Amino acid sequence: MSAARLVLGIETSCDDTSVAVLEDGRTLRAHLIAAQDVHRLYGGVVPELASRAHLELLPRLVASCLSEAQVAAGELTGIAVTRAPGLVGSLVVGVAFARAYGLALGIPVVGVNHIEAHLHAATLEHGASPLPAVALVVSGGHTELVEVRGFGRYRWLGSTRDDAAGEAYDKVAKLLGLGFPGGPVLDRLGERGNRTAFAFPRPMLDSADLDFSFSGLKTAVALAVGRLGPPPHAETLLADLAASFQAAVVDTLVGKTLRAVDQVGACALSAGGGVAANRELRTRLAAGCEERGIPLRLPSSRLCADNAAMIALIGSWMLERGDPADADLDVVASLEESGLPMGGD
Ligand code: KG4
Ligand code: ZN
Repeated sequence: MSAARLVLGIETSCDDTSVAVLEDGRTLRAHLIAAQDVHRLYGGVVPELASRAHLELLPRLVASCLSEAQVAAGELTGIAVTRAPGLVGSLVVGVAFARAYGLALGIPVVGVNHIEAHLHAATLEHGASPLPAVALVVSGGHTELVEVRGFGRYRWLGSTRDDAAGEAYDKVAKLLGLGFPGGPVLDRLGERGNRTAFAFPRPMLDSADLDFSFSGLKTAVALAVGRLGPPPHAETLLADLAASFQAAVVDTLVGKTLRAVDQVGACALSAGGGVAANRELRTRLAAGCEERGIPLRLPSSRLCADNAAMIALIGSWMLERGDPADADLDVVASLEESGLPMGGD
């Protein structure tokens, strides 16, 4: 029997420090995510503070993760680290740590694309996907619709032209004085409100393409709030605003995603990114997939958000494919320049 492949995943692209140990590309031996609470004080992610927090957290987190996985550092067979896209300072901390650790252990280090990891995160809980599939990645920084034809084979169907869906959630929550991050609190609050109380636009829902735009929606909410007079606003009013805003975001995301599924003739739909944890979005996507008789592959909330398990998964596949170690560890901020094959074949 050959020895187990044990890959250490490291994720530091934004404000979550996460590490995981994945065995044979399938079994999560341990997975830790440390959210950096310091950003709540500022109402958004402060890049400089994020880098410092990663630096402080990583060594301890790796030690705890190995101990929980009951794996000695010397048993690791490879390291996978996020190299793009993300906050450059945060990425540099993760990559520098990974390179040093890999050098000390004499094992290969591969650089993983964070968005590619979101595209495949559902595989950890749902197994291999029927292909072609459509994947929706919705987070604080991205709103992407992608046709997935296999590992490394993608055709970009649509993106946001301005704000990401999660960014809209965060900005609207800030406007309503609900703190940061905005998604989880608006998700809960919206459940108690009337989704037709405010007639917010469904931006670009009827455009012929599969792109998104959320900045106009945020402005529409700001105007509506301005008309209400000075805060504090009644709890029921806030719930109605949350429900109406959320209805507009979810209608738009679901409308375009299901149109993409139909255009591609997709055999499966998956979603990832923090906003994919949204309950209304999950319910509506499930109904759309049931209508079409295709599987919906939704990761649990923990694997929707930024996490090292998905980074270890892609790293395992890269090592298995024979990607050269240490070859491409340059950090890159933007998705467009991150080297992901976005054009299809
Ligand atoms: O993927 P993620 O953890 O980090 C990146 O941005 O890469 O996503 C975070 C985003 C935040 O904008 C947050 O407000 C949003 O995901 N989010 C949600 C929910 N949980 C997190 N948005 C809507 N509903 C949720 N339940
Ligand atoms: Zn992400």
